[in-house]
Amino acid sequence: MIDLDLTEEHRLLEQTVREWAAREVAPHIAELDRAHRFDPRILPQMADLGLLGICVPAEYGGAGMDYLSLGLASEELEYVDTSLRVILSVHVGLNSLSLLAWGTEEQKRRYLVPQAQGQKIATFGLTEPAAGSDARGIQTVAIRKGDRYVLSGEKMWISLADVADHFLVIAWSDLEKKRAKDPSGLSAFIVERAFAGFSSGTLTHKWGILAGNTGFFKMDEVEVPAENLLGREGEGFKIAMFALDQGRYTVAAGATGLIRACRDASVRYAQQRQTFGVEIGQHQLVKEMLARMEADYQTSRLLWLKAGWMKNIGRRNTRESGLAKWMATVASERAAGDAVQIHGANGYSDEYPVGRYYRNCKGAVIYEGTREIHALMQADYLLGYRTDKPTRCELPPYQGQTAGA
Ligand code: CAA
Repeated sequence: MIDLDLTEEHRLLEQTVREWAAREVAPHIAELDRAHRFDPRILPQMADLGLLGICVPAEYGGAGMDYLSLGLASEELEYVDTSLRVILSVHVGLNSLSLLAWGTEEQKRRYLVPQAQGQKIATFGLTEPAAGSDARGIQTVAIRKGDRYVLSGEKMWISLADVADHFLVIAWSDLEKKRAKDPSGLSAFIVERAFAGFSSGTLTHKWGILAGNTGFFKMDEVEVPAENLLGREGEGFKIAMFALDQGRYTVAAGATGLIRACRDASVRYAQQRQTFGVEIGQHQLVKEMLARMEADYQTSRLLWLKAGWMKNIGRRNTRESGLAKWMATVASERAAGDAVQIHGANGYSDEYPVGRYYRNCKGAVIYEGTREIHALMQADYLLGYRTDKPTRCELPPYQGQTAGA
């Protein structure tokens, strides 16, 4: 039974994150965005708030909150700027939760604990210059040599590439299967920036999420100890898809926050700007756009809440997380377009935040499964071509107090 009431703990979290982001980030974000600058001082502050280990159990150094809390924090962070939510998506969603579900006790102690405490920053490396949607098309290889794997390849469009210490890397460990593009030949590895042969760089030609760090990393015969294999050999594709279940969930919640930001900015503007002798909020076509934003906000929120509730009770949620991500990101694109429209020429300048929302929303319609990939996946579920089978490792259900959704 889904309970739509949030707990006191959830409300407190929402308020804490909202106030922190409004106080510490909102006053500077336009300037950071204009300067294409990631502000690393944000990370220790997020760590102090417990956000970098938000739903990691306390025994692994985390805040021990539930998975809904991850969604709530994602929504609040993206309300201020997408770059903030991206930190949570890659560090917690894609990386730390994969270690939590698939890692050995030793790997959790060594990598998850410092990540949850914010001493080390983590990200995810699946995408390559020539392989995005076609995840089986990656070229990175991991050749076993004694007690190590030697990794070579390049990953692209990696959030926090120049900031992270730990990288969850997907590579082919079986070259026969690579030729056949059989995903059971892919494996997942925990790679440290400090390993010899690792290098990274920042992409400078991006036009959205400019206050976020996005880049590439290269591995030139990087020797990775065999104990850094995450899961078993051949489970890399499943781990990547599992990671995306969590990442897409944070993207969905974040896009919901972006819709709310568009809505609020548009309402303020519509109450203040006058045309033809009245506030523009009096015009029916403006009202229609505002009403659509509200509907998009409420429906997007319900979809991610449902996915989060399923995570809390330990139910497979690939379909629900994907649907939430698809719907919220497409709706955020509509909301941002309408927010600019309502602001008229002012929306087309960077005097108002809606231009930034418009640039930022587009990324999420592309990364972590494009709009088209998600449409195909949802159709395949309907047609019976795709079903979610249980996997060997799942996210542990939330063990604390029963949290309402
Ligand atoms: N959890 C666990 N296992 C899963 C899984 C999941 N969520 N999804 C699939 N699997 C398993 C399947 O059960 C199957 O296992 P069996 O062979 O044992 O049955 C195996 O993995 C292969 O699954 P599929 O047959 O479903 O794989 P596919 O090739 O049909 O997948 C696809 C196609 C859905 C298009 C997939 O390639 C995909 O999602 N592509 C998009 C990739 C993507 O989102 N990239 C973004 C990268 S991250 C990013 O953007 C970076 C950033 O910093 C933000």
